[in-house]
Amino acid sequence: MTVSRRDAVLSTLALTASSMLAERTTAERTALAHAEHARFDDKLLNLDDYEQAARSKIPAVAWEYIEGGAADEITVRWNRDAYRAIRLLPRQLKDVGTLDTRVTLLGHDLAHPILLAPTASHRLAHPEGEIATARGARDASAGMVLSSYTTVPVESVAAIKPPLLWFQLYVQEKSYTRDLIQRAAAAGCTALCLTVDTPNSGARNRQDRSGFTFPPNLPHITSANVEYPIMWKDLEWIRAASSMPVLLKGILHPDDAELGIQAGAAGIMVSNHGGRNLDTTPATIDALPRVVDKVRGRVPVFVDGGIRRGTDVLKALANGASAVMIGRPYVHGLAVNGAAGVTAVVNILRHELELAMALTGKPTIKSLDRSVIFA
Ligand code: FNR
Repeated sequence: MTVSRRDAVLSTLALTASSMLAERTTAERTALAHAEHARFDDKLLNLDDYEQAARSKIPAVAWEYIEGGAADEITVRWNRDAYRAIRLLPRQLKDVGTLDTRVTLLGHDLAHPILLAPTASHRLAHPEGEIATARGARDASAGMVLSSYTTVPVESVAAIKPPLLWFQLYVQEKSYTRDLIQRAAAAGCTALCLTVDTPNSGARNRQDRSGFTFPPNLPHITSANVEYPIMWKDLEWIRAASSMPVLLKGILHPDDAELGIQAGAAGIMVSNHGGRNLDTTPATIDALPRVVDKVRGRVPVFVDGGIRRGTDVLKALANGASAVMIGRPYVHGLAVNGAAGVTAVVNILRHELELAMALTGKPTIKSLDRSVIFA
């Protein structure tokens, strides 16, 4: 079926309501996919296409910062390769006429399980920075985690009202950090994602070779009075600083997940910081099952790193993740087309997830389990 651009725009308008829905019939999914592809760019069909297109939009030095990882970037590669190595084993003739991608995360109902991971300095990728990202998240019904190193005040981002807004915390001097937590809560953030994998960043050879430094005109939230690194005992005062639940981002070892739960963490985010910190850590999809087995459903487990396809999302959920986060891909979307680019990237991934759900015979997120993996 071919769809003219005008038809596509019209059907996009008609389908706006449908795109906000969590449940879609086969006919709605097909029409939406045609509309999306025609509306944006016929050539930008997947996340790798967005990566290629972003390359020419982002200044070379900033590109090295965004794309780069630590040291030899082995973990950067493993994050993606590990997904590719997992084979899927579909079941046929199931009722997949209507697919339901809804999830509930810490009491928030979301249309689908794809969130935006915290990444620093969105104004490196687009002049509207985190404002455009939040609009993109809102229009794609995606939850967003805002970095401590946002280049737009948290209040302005919260005013856009993405369906879920959590604040990522880098701990700095204590009273400064307490104020920052309270500011995020007052702005409307409903959880803190405490990044625990960064007592310092990794050996960022690629970034350093490029000569990257944060442009001085980007107003980071920082304090001259840095107090680092944090330890387990610090969770107490961080949790006490607001009523927001605290999730731990950057867990790889199951025992750290257990310690986190004992210390009151409301969620565990399996992450190796997109391969940017300690090189040669395992791919997050390889680390995930052990963490999930340790956590035993007591709190939701999230995973990020290397997710570029709907089948990757499906594999993460099948291995026990409650939701996934993407980092670099939405920054690419932001660079290519601002808010609409962020929306497009999430919509592509969500649509691919729906295709994979139908093709594996799994009509709901709950129905995804390890039986879909060819072991
Ligand atoms: C990040 N990441 C990150 N994490 C965090 O907790 N606070 C931050 O400020 C940042 N900043 C940041 C900047 C850039 C440019 C990147 C690429 C990443 C890590 C991020 O949250 C996430 O863990 C990874 O990006 C996930 O990997 P993928 O999806 O980029 O492969």
